[in-house]
Amino acid sequence: MSDIDRGAPMDPAKRTWLIASSCVGAVGAAFTAVPLVSSFAPSERAKAAGAPVEVDISALQPGEKMTVEWRGKPVWIVKRTKEQIDAPPKHDGELADPQSKRNQDELTPAYARNEGRSIKPELLVVVGICTHLGCSPTDRFAAGAQASLPDDWPGGFLCPCHGSTFDLAGRVFKNKPAPDNLEVPPHTYLSETRLLIGEDKKA
Ligand code: FES
Repeated sequence: MSDIDRGAPMDPAKRTWLIASSCVGAVGAAFTAVPLVSSFAPSERAKAAGAPVEVDISALQPGEKMTVEWRGKPVWIVKRTKEQIDAPPKHDGELADPQSKRNQDELTPAYARNEGRSIKPELLVVVGICTHLGCSPTDRFAAGAQASLPDDWPGGFLCPCHGSTFDLAGRVFKNKPAPDNLEVPPHTYLSETRLLIGEDKKA
C-alpha cells in the first residue's frame, strides 16, 4: 500500500493519517488501526522502542506528502514544489513564531531553524500532530481562498478540531489555539533517496 498522497491541490477530505480519529485526542490509539509504511527498516519491536526509521523517498514527487510512523507518531514528509520554495515569505507577520524560536530543543533542531524549517529547501519533515490538543491537521496545500481559510491562504495545513493553521513549513499562524509550530523530528539524509528519521547526523 502506498503511503504517498499524490497530486496537488490536496483534497482536504482525502485520507490522512489520523483524520478519521479527529480530535478525540486518541493519537496513540489510532495508530493500531493504520497500516504502516512498507519501507520501515527496523523491526516492529525496535520501532516501538523508538528506533530510527529509514525511509525511501525516491517516489515522492513535488506537491506530494508521505506519512511514516516514528515512536508512535505520524511523521509527514512533504516535497514542496518549486513555486512553494520560491514564494517570497509574505505571511511571516501573520505567524506566531516565524523564526522557530520557541521551545527549540523540543520543536526545531538547529539545522531546521530556517525559513523552510528543513535541511533541504524542497523537503519538509514534521510530526503531523497539532500542538494544541493533538489532532492531526489536514492537507490544504493549494494557495488561495477556500473553505475555512483566509483569502490569502499561502498553502499549508488546517487542524479540523479547533481551526489552527500552519504554513508549508509547519509554522503556526497567530491567534490560533495551537501555541507552537509543528515539531521537526531529528532526521538526516543517508543519500538523495534515503531519509533517516529519529537520528541526527552526529559529528
Ligand atoms: S487540536 Fe488542533 S486546533 Fe485544537
